[in-house]
Amino acid sequence: MRVQGAHLRTIRETEDHRGLMVIDQTLLPDRLEQVRILTLAECARAITGMVVRGAPLIGVTAAYGLALGLRDDPSDAGMELARRTLLATRPTAVNLRWAVDRVAAVARERPLFERAGAAWREAGRLAEEDVAVCEAIGRHGAALLRGVVRRGTELEVLTHCNAGWLATVDWGTALAPVYALHDAGVPVHVWVSETRPRNQGLLTAWELGQHGVPHTLIVDNAAGHLLQRGRVDVCVTGADRVTSSGDVCNKIGTYLKALAAREAGVPFFAAVPSSTIDWSIPLGSTIPIEERAAAEVDRTGEFEVFNPGFDVTPASLVRGLITERGVCDASPVGLSRLFPERAA
Ligand code: MRU
Repeated sequence: MRVQGAHLRTIRETEDHRGLMVIDQTLLPDRLEQVRILTLAECARAITGMVVRGAPLIGVTAAYGLALGLRDDPSDAGMELARRTLLATRPTAVNLRWAVDRVAAVARERPLFERAGAAWREAGRLAEEDVAVCEAIGRHGAALLRGVVRRGTELEVLTHCNAGWLATVDWGTALAPVYALHDAGVPVHVWVSETRPRNQGLLTAWELGQHGVPHTLIVDNAAGHLLQRGRVDVCVTGADRVTSSGDVCNKIGTYLKALAAREAGVPFFAAVPSSTIDWSIPLGSTIPIEERAAAEVDRTGEFEVFNPGFDVTPASLVRGLITERGVCDASPVGLSRLFPERAA
């Protein structure tokens, strides 16, 4: 996406293809800096420390991480250790497991001396696919949102957390349709919820600003008020894991927004690449929810804190899922129509 007029991705290979350059998202929106990652351990630390974050970007970073691990130890045991190290970084986004397993499957077919190279190339393919998938989500989502636009007014979109290009390699998921509409000249304005405690809303505001999309930052608790007053036409968020029955797990606070949207009669959509769909579980209640450090909420260390990073919005509150293959109902039937091969 555009940053200070230039095109930038969240992750890229170094020129010698020995390592990665990633945007350090812990420094945004104050400073835009890229950091180098050369080892599996650095990769795992970048994911745990949220230098890189967002389900699709976590997946792509972990894919490269496996390849870096194989450079040091291409044996089966080495691969399993690298796999476990990466899977332990963050538990909720299923893209991580999906990406690591895909790269491991490719590497496993090769003799030891070819494994690291094959894994690196597969991670690169995965990164390019992520861009194409997000572009497709943008196209399908924009077509859907055009149907919500009221003549003569700006389209008012409410989003939560950051599901823009910073959460992917490029374009984003929830924000991809927004960028597509904006670039096509459709007036669109985004209500950006702050997303305590990590304030990913500031990342969303920053990237929308870089692209010139009108937006307004709100505190998390303001969303219900805006919905009630008719100031939101549509809610669109990303997801970290969607079950085979359409339950949507996303950043903590998403569920409350979906509830308020239902009460206000405003449609709620989740934009999800198929790598975010966990076909192995039907029920959102079984998704592992990451519990984050108390210090994110209470700097004094004085209070007992419970800090879940994600919540589950039941399929019944979700009007539809915007995927790279089109829009479907958040239901087993809806999902299996779009992804018959997976549902089978
Ligand atoms: O904890 P984070 O910042 O990694 O959480 C990110 C989100 O919850 C996003 O909404 C989700 O990953 C979708 S990103 C395209």
